[in-house]
Amino acid sequence: AWRSRTRQRLLDWFLENHRVLPWRSDPQPYHVWVSEIMLQQTQVATVIPYYERFLKTFPTVSALAAADEETLLSHWEGLGYYRRARSMHAAAKQICQRHDEVFPDTFEAVLDLPGIGRYTAGAILSISQGQAFPVLEGNTQRVFSRWVAMQGVLSEKPTLDLLWNIAGAMLPRSNAKRRDQKPSHLPDRGPGIFNQAAMELGALICTPRSPKCDQCPVRAGCCARKLGIQETIPGKVKK
Ligand code: ADE
Repeated sequence: AWRSRTRQRLLDWFLENHRVLPWRSDPQPYHVWVSEIMLQQTQVATVIPYYERFLKTFPTVSALAAADEETLLSHWEGLGYYRRARSMHAAAKQICQRHDEVFPDTFEAVLDLPGIGRYTAGAILSISQGQAFPVLEGNTQRVFSRWVAMQGVLSEKPTLDLLWNIAGAMLPRSNAKRRDQKPSHLPDRGPGIFNQAAMELGALICTPRSPKCDQCPVRAGCCARKLGIQETIPGKVKK
């Protein structure tokens, strides 16, 4: 009961309060992939113009695969971490060679692409197709840690296992879409919307410092807040 109530409150909040972002209007796998890779080390506001320019120059996986590296890297200038761009290039080539230029739709094939780990694969398949895979990145690590007043630090495997388990347990039932269905992601309340809602909560409300607990849709169930320790969770990684 706690789980479904919390999930509903989070989804209601997201449907009212989500940011309108360019990659949300037509969440094809390619679009979600580009946005998630750019967002990995870069703020949303910085990413938006890069994302739009990138999609204009490389509108499809095939266009990206065919790009010359210099042009590709020039579109990345200012974002930093150029390894992300080189991995995307290699992944686009792999999609053309092994998957007929169509972004793969199984977790195994997506995870096998260069530069894509468990989080990115889950984000792509849940957001673009409603497949029921959890997402654990910086925002959701913090959100779930605080819900359960987690005591461990994020560098420990048992802690990460716990958080992945929470992320998976909170996921609504699959609402997988077929490839030929029109994107209609916002009215839907499936796993992709849940994952985006949890990330959005971390980005807008459950922030690292001074979280806005008084505006939080799921504050009633938050153990960290009950204990008044939200700002100390997740614990600092010891260097
Ligand atoms: N940060 C990384 N990916 C995100 C997403 N899909 N929505 C909100 N914040 C994010």
